[in-house]
Amino acid sequence: MKSPNIQIRDDGRLRHFLSIEGLNYGLLNEILDTAESFAGVAEQSVKKVPLLRGKTIVNLFFEASTRTRTTFELAAKRLSADVLNINVDVSSAAKGETLLDTLRNLEAMQVDMFVVRHKDSGTAHFIARHVLPHVSVINAGDGRHAHPTQAMLDMYTIRREKGSDFGRLTVAIVGDIAHSRVARSQIHALNLLTTGEVRIIAPRTLVPSHVESLGVRVFHELREGLRDADVVIMLRLQRERMQGGLLPSEHEYYQLYGLTEEKLSMAKPDVTVMHPGPINRGVEMDSQVADGPRSVILQQVTYGIAVRMAVMSMAMQKKVAQDADA
Ligand code: CP
Repeated sequence: MKSPNIQIRDDGRLRHFLSIEGLNYGLLNEILDTAESFAGVAEQSVKKVPLLRGKTIVNLFFEASTRTRTTFELAAKRLSADVLNINVDVSSAAKGETLLDTLRNLEAMQVDMFVVRHKDSGTAHFIARHVLPHVSVINAGDGRHAHPTQAMLDMYTIRREKGSDFGRLTVAIVGDIAHSRVARSQIHALNLLTTGEVRIIAPRTLVPSHVESLGVRVFHELREGLRDADVVIMLRLQRERMQGGLLPSEHEYYQLYGLTEEKLSMAKPDVTVMHPGPINRGVEMDSQVADGPRSVILQQVTYGIAVRMAVMSMAMQKKVAQDADA
């Protein structure tokens, strides 16, 4: 029997945002359209809308983050929510408190949403299965499984750069696919948005088994895989998740897979270069490319705020509407 999709409410709206799998074309476009409607908030003299006023959002990060944690915080504040940032290193988790006990205690403070990052795959789903009925959970990255808001801000970036017809695009994802939650979520999102061709380019040791079943073309040679690409997404080597022995050396990796202007010339002249961050300059890409005219790496960070505003407001939509009716 198929297990119920806990991300979606009975009326088809978002309740949690845990992975791109289980969502559909309509919902993905609703997220992108809603993000577009929030993009202008940053241009206002008061960068706020009152949509989540009175709501409490908890950032629960058990793993390091610069971009995701801060843009979730900014997004929540721009929606007028109250935000708690739990510093896990100095929380009672460090004294042996279980994850469920931490959750129960935070729920006792009448919180409305958890934004969760954890090194273990499946943690956000686990939390979503245990929270109170009115609480929503957003996955901010779990192990090598999923990073759905990163994928959605990447889709938003592509739509901004290339227009909404994904069907005419060739998108190449380059690097450590095997350990990347970002790549997994991007591939699902690109497929749902009916992208013309999704390629992955990586050494054999960094390609997950059965990846072709995800509907991608696999290349092991960078120049070949970049040929006529519209969008190139570079990935970091996820050393923290590697067992060791998968790569010769960073120097050799850079020679073969590091993106330089010369290699990029294989792609279309108006190619867009992206990277979720953090970048390791001189490992996966050259600074000339990272800081060059075709790079939208910093725009991705900016767009992340509007996309996270969209996801948070959509997940709380029903509750906001119910509260307004009361
Ligand atoms: N892209 C991304 O997840 O970056 P952080 O680890 O800094 O959040």
